[in-house]
Amino acid sequence: MTPRLVVHELSKHFGGIVAADGVSFELLDAECLGLIGPNGAGKTTVCSIIAGEQMASAGTVRLDGHDLAGLPVYQRARRGLSRTYQRLEIFPEMTVRDHLLVAQGVHDGATGLLGDLMGSGGSSQLQKNAAEETLELVGLGDYADVVVGTLSLGSCRLVELARSLVVNPRVLLADEPSSGLDSLESVAMGDVLQRAQRERGLSIILVEHDLEMVARLSDRVVVMQSGLVVATGSFDEVMADQDVRDAYLGVGK
Ligand SMILES: Nc1ncnc2c1ncn2[C@@H]1O[C@H](COP(=O)(O)OP(=O)(O)O)[C@@H](O)[C@H]1O
Ligand SMILES: [Mg+2]
Repeated sequence: MTPRLVVHELSKHFGGIVAADGVSFELLDAECLGLIGPNGAGKTTVCSIIAGEQMASAGTVRLDGHDLAGLPVYQRARRGLSRTYQRLEIFPEMTVRDHLLVAQGVHDGATGLLGDLMGSGGSSQLQKNAAEETLELVGLGDYADVVVGTLSLGSCRLVELARSLVVNPRVLLADEPSSGLDSLESVAMGDVLQRAQRERGLSIILVEHDLEMVARLSDRVVVMQSGLVVATGSFDEVMADQDVRDAYLGVGK
């Protein structure tokens, strides 16, 4: 079976800083791969390169066997790559549903087949149905018409996640989805990610400091430190590794 995503010998230099140094891993179909490591390890850099937001200094990223080199963000998105950010990016005055419909409009483009199916400037029935389904999936079905600015941070993060999922990606790059959430909200976020993985066959790269969530969701874990992959294996395997213990104990969280 071809892995969904293959990251091979990826490196990224920022001047003298080596943010990623020969990073290699594979993400299988419907797998959740935890990507962990102390702050500054290079996790976000790797996600940004996969998503096409930053260019690698060296190395390749393959999605379903195709080299993504040179493809801009939107073309990678159309091939099934979606990402969420550490920082919240929502529009407080817009409703929950509109966040999803706008994301679909951007993703599908205003022209082409889907554009033809759309009403006068509105969203197609297909898009509306996908938005409803996705809001149900993340547990926000009752909040479609609510203005996002009135929601809790936990719900805002679910809106963000729903916006990434509404275009039905094959691979989700989730960069610290529980950032800023309390423990109950984090558990809810983990539940939703797990549901998306199981019900939609979504493959997930889960960058997370919340190790309980990583342990619960991840089929395998990749540990980075100072740009290098220092361990790959099951959660228990990598946690038993002395290099990993040193990385975590040595550099704070
Ligand atoms: N745009 C940038 N310019 C310069 N240095 C950067 C940039 N982005 C990240 N870095 C550096 O690269 C290293 C890895 O950062 P990052 O990928 O954000 O780590 P993580 O997400 O694991 O905390 C850090 O030393 C960081 O300061
Ligand atoms: Mg980061």
